[in-house]
Amino acid sequence: MNKKLLGSTDVGLSPLALGTVKFGRNQSVKYPGQFNLPADTDLKNLLSLARDYGVSTLDTAPAYGISEERLGKLMQGQRNAFEIISKAGEIYDTAADSSTYRFDAKTLRHSLETSLRTLKTDYLDVWLLHSDGNDLDNLNDETLEVFLTAKQQGYVRAIGMSTKTVDGGRKALEHMDCIMMAASLSHEDEAPLFDIAASLNKGLLMKKIFDSGWALTNDNKSQVMEQTYNTLFSHQAVCSAIVGTINPKHLIENTQAFEQAVPLGNTDAQ
Ligand SMILES: NC(=O)c1ccc[n+]([C@@H]2O[C@H](COP(=O)([O-])OP(=O)(O)OC[C@H]3O[C@@H](n4cnc5c(N)ncnc54)[C@H](OP(=O)(O)O)[C@@H]3O)[C@@H](O)[C@H]2O)c1
Repeated sequence: MNKKLLGSTDVGLSPLALGTVKFGRNQSVKYPGQFNLPADTDLKNLLSLARDYGVSTLDTAPAYGISEERLGKLMQGQRNAFEIISKAGEIYDTAADSSTYRFDAKTLRHSLETSLRTLKTDYLDVWLLHSDGNDLDNLNDETLEVFLTAKQQGYVRAIGMSTKTVDGGRKALEHMDCIMMAASLSHEDEAPLFDIAASLNKGLLMKKIFDSGWALTNDNKSQVMEQTYNTLFSHQAVCSAIVGTINPKHLIENTQAFEQAVPLGNTDAQ
């Protein structure tokens, strides 16, 4: 699985990326079944498997409980084998099981410093503003300045926003390198962003591609996976689809469905 460049940046990401919500948080999540957080050994094996299958891009966030902390420990000595996407804006308190959102410059800068320290790295490959739903308010002169400065100073290689609306996605694409947007076979609300991103030569990271797993609860899951990858990667601007799994068998199934659905050659970076 070759990497693909994110929009007009020089950041190459694996077309299948691993989402790590389930590495660090099992409260107030929207998955079909309850689950326990995996043991360190299981996650170590999962990361090694991901690497073997070319799934080298990891998506995390301070809002994903202890995900960043666990990745920091598990990736020690292997930072260069992975690309890391993280975020800022949402703060999750595990004990209270509640999220707060803070978008002032000081909090965002502090969040980046904490992510770098926790992940035991001196740079992120992609840093995203984590929306509270009010995309247009969240991305303002102050927040944009923090992100542009972090990139200029070399702490992050590419910047973007995890958006929830078409208008917010458009604004983020106009000012940043990429967005993370939701799309699945049953969720097409933000579909106009596919062409907007392509016309601006910006990159798309896809989240919730299986409706947080609900799309895979029937007998036809192989078909759903293949059709999802086929549809998403028919859009030129799509760089990576993020699949959130803690099950090695499911990870392999996804790589197989991806290889089946997406013709070789739809990738352009090493
Ligand atoms: N920025 C944001 O606001 C935001 C929001 C949501 C998500 N995200 C990112 O996107 C990632 C993915 O989103 P998501 O986790 O909500 O949803 P998703 O990738 O659509 O679905 C994940 C669910 O699908 C299941 N699954 C995956 N492959 C499977 C297979 N082959 N067979 C059966 N079940 C399978 C997983 O269960 P198993 O673990 O059992 O495989 C998991 O419960 C997250 O981890 C996160 O990194 C970002």
